[in-house]
Amino acid sequence: MTDVFSAINGRTSANNFDATHLMSQAEITELAQLTNQTPTSFNQQNWRLVAVNTPAAKARLKAAAYNQPKVGDAAVTFVVVGKIGGHKDLPTLIKPMLDGGYIDQAAFDGWIGMANGMYDGKDQFQRDEAIRSASMAAMTLMYAAHGKGLVSGAMIGFDPAAVSAECKLAADEIPVMLIAVGRPAPGNWPRKVRRAVADVVSFSAD
Ligand SMILES: Cc1cc2nc3c(=O)[nH]c(=O)nc-3n(C[C@H](O)[C@H](O)[C@H](O)COP(=O)(O)O)c2cc1C
Repeated sequence: MTDVFSAINGRTSANNFDATHLMSQAEITELAQLTNQTPTSFNQQNWRLVAVNTPAAKARLKAAAYNQPKVGDAAVTFVVVGKIGGHKDLPTLIKPMLDGGYIDQAAFDGWIGMANGMYDGKDQFQRDEAIRSASMAAMTLMYAAHGKGLVSGAMIGFDPAAVSAECKLAADEIPVMLIAVGRPAPGNWPRKVRRAVADVVSFSAD
């Protein structure tokens, strides 16, 4: 168990993974369960994970990721998928809250109505939301892995069309990021330097 500050300060991007380390479906599912706590706009949950953990599938994904060795070596590489137009799923996703008495019909209708008003007909905004949500999930996944004593490596170095074909993504789905997860092999870099904090925060004027 790792506390949140240790996780934030301790996580680094791994490039070298122990290729002998395998993860069971139960272990992978536990990471997915933790990732599933990620917040999303309107709770639209417009993302999902494809876990690539078999030798043949890893080899195909590696080819689609410009042969980055970590895709072949890591116990699992997750394809973090974002869904365009995910707000249209809200009636189904929010219904359990109505049925469970957490919200009443007026709140339910207002929730759906506000989401439709915000996203309907706005293709770029829907795509932005898919990438936003999947990116949030990707970060949760990396911290979940860290908490389990594993390392992770995020990747945008891949051919989106090839990854979409490999994972049989629907037309409204985008492969947002790959996240390799496993045990480290020697040779990983320490945390890279960051900008001074004064460069990343400013304060509002009165
Ligand atoms: C969205 C995203 C995409 C990345 N893509 C790649 C990649 O394709 N290949 C790679 O080796 N590292 C990739 N990285 C890792 C970054 O280079 C790394 O996070 C950064 O240098 C900071 O290192 P640190 O996480 O160890 O602090 C990516 C990281 C992020 C967040």
